[in-house]
Amino acid sequence: MEENYKLYLGDSYKLIKEIPTASIDLILTDPPYNLSNYSTGNIKLSWRKDINNDVAEWDKVEFKPIDWVKEFKRILKPTGNIFAFCSYNLIGKWHEAFDPEFDTFQFVVWHKTNPVPKVFRAGFLNSCELIVCMWNKGHTWNFSNQREMHNFIETPICMGPERVKNPFHPTQKPVKVLEHIIKIASKEGDIVFDPFMGVGSTGVAALNLGRKFIGIEIDEKYFKVAEKRLKVAAGNLKLFKY
Ligand SMILES: C[S@@+](CC[C@H](N)C(=O)[O-])C[C@H]1O[C@@H](n2cnc3c(N)ncnc32)[C@H](O)[C@@H]1O
Repeated sequence: MEENYKLYLGDSYKLIKEIPTASIDLILTDPPYNLSNYSTGNIKLSWRKDINNDVAEWDKVEFKPIDWVKEFKRILKPTGNIFAFCSYNLIGKWHEAFDPEFDTFQFVVWHKTNPVPKVFRAGFLNSCELIVCMWNKGHTWNFSNQREMHNFIETPICMGPERVKNPFHPTQKPVKVLEHIIKIASKEGDIVFDPFMGVGSTGVAALNLGRKFIGIEIDEKYFKVAEKRLKVAAGNLKLFKY
């Protein structure tokens, strides 16, 4: 494939301004969750590695969905779709910000078949993650059959050879989940955009399916991994031109 991806190292609040108006077919992203605010600290256990409740430093920076409405609307084509992973504490804010601006606001549940165990058995497992989605009439939509169009995806969390070990990213998403969304909500040759790309999982899924990809990541160590993964997925590194 030629000229099929472009990656930016830096702050997506600033760099999104470089994306041309009405140029993106699918925004598929996984922004900070601000879950660290509710953490009672990581759990240390003698028989396994610590259970990470603190998420990461980047999760402590306040993320406000309302700050993204204007730019997401500007860069999205009229036929475009938006999908964003979203934690329980932010779902109301996503709805408040985006529902008035789009014809449809829905959500998908991603059920993890192997979530982190609840060692003290004092509550539910955190086995589900929400993905909010929005679009306008006339959006690209590849409906398959009723059975396959439930707003529910079930897979293990990212593991095995797919999981990047060094540096470890605490919230690396499985490519399978991202491919499922990309197949439904875009066409071959479309441009997928992720302003919080981490180690580039959305980009790998996009290239695997013959889409183009634009990604932004602020942390250099994750950015470098994304570069490597995208290079492998693309076969060779060629910069995407508009
Ligand atoms: C939830 S993670 C995304 C993980 C990604 N889905 C993956 O599979 O690797 C959010 C990412 O956004 C990055 N980030 C946070 N604030 C950012 C900003 N202002 N601009 C660009 N990236 C940012 C973090 O460094 C983190 O890697």
